[in-house]
Amino acid sequence: MIGDRCLSDLPKVLVVGGAGYIGSHMVKYLDKMGAVITVLDNLSTGHRDLITAGEFIEGDLGDEALLNSVFERRDIDVVMHFAASSLVAESVADPLKYYTNNISRTASLLSAMQRHDIKHFIFSSTAAVYGEPDELPITENTSTNPSNPYGATKLAVERMLRDCDTGFGLKSICLRYFNACGADDSATIGERHQPETHLIPLVLQVAAGLREHISVFGHDYETEDGTCIRDYIHVNDLAQAHYQAMMKLLNGAESITYNLGNSAGFSVRQVVEQARMVTAKEIKVVEAARRRGDPAVLVADSAKARRELGWQPQYESLSTMIASAWAWHQRDFS
Ligand code: UFG
Repeated sequence: MIGDRCLSDLPKVLVVGGAGYIGSHMVKYLDKMGAVITVLDNLSTGHRDLITAGEFIEGDLGDEALLNSVFERRDIDVVMHFAASSLVAESVADPLKYYTNNISRTASLLSAMQRHDIKHFIFSSTAAVYGEPDELPITENTSTNPSNPYGATKLAVERMLRDCDTGFGLKSICLRYFNACGADDSATIGERHQPETHLIPLVLQVAAGLREHISVFGHDYETEDGTCIRDYIHVNDLAQAHYQAMMKLLNGAESITYNLGNSAGFSVRQVVEQARMVTAKEIKVVEAARRRGDPAVLVADSAKARRELGWQPQYESLSTMIASAWAWHQRDFS
């Protein structure tokens, strides 16, 4: 038995957005744990070749008939929702895309779940809900004050989930990720965004000779070396936390929120330095202006997830995380 459930009672999971970066690692992890997996993805930013297990359905959350058929024809215990627009700068320039994709489409998914009486939901939330934090490290009780539409739409969904619990008993766990990075040790799946905007893959593109330099956005922040500090967390450690959160929900837990980070901050310059060591390549740095909406320091207090989920990140060193990303990119870039 795991809690109230029999070991033979394998969880049946719908992974929405399972062709994306974090979703595809989740699918691989769930497969390793023996779950029965259905993936729903519209492939707008995801990639078919990153889905390594389960049944794949290509489709959109705006398609009510499709959602009805997904839930009618399959026995689903829990939905994990990774499908969202997630670029901070884009959200500032095109907010309605974020309000539509992240809030309206999630409401459609939750309505379909309500119609089909599915009561367990794991939500990909973000540290962007905190905005410029008023304390460090950031706990789940730190005030939320998102500084861009991306964070605002994620926070709105968290609120919607609380209301759904009150209204019809939907139990959810919101996981607020800090900076996801790295790739599976197999190097068969990893981060592939078009366009790429994240620091580690861009730095590795420079190392691979695909980009001339990395622009460091801001060098006059109030940090030791003047560049922004972030808390990097390996994508497989995120997958582990989702699995543990899912089991907690299936064993009857109440709705709750957790931060997922390593509780260690690294500056942009430190990331570049580590990448130089991992790749043994020159990585040219150019100082650039601050990027709009970037908080100076984001570091998580994730003690609650460690304590209550039994979560134990396996990739705590930044160089290990970067090395796993480098192994993947060397395959994917070629
Ligand atoms: N950075 C650069 N140069 C670049 C790209 C990034 O200096 O070319 C800097 C950024 O200014 C920031 C840091 O590197 O200080 C990390 O930037 P990323 O774009 O990799 O990640 P963010 O911290 O902006 O955002 C990520 C996720 C968001 C999430 C946030 C929460 O992409 O979805 O973490 O911490 F909200």
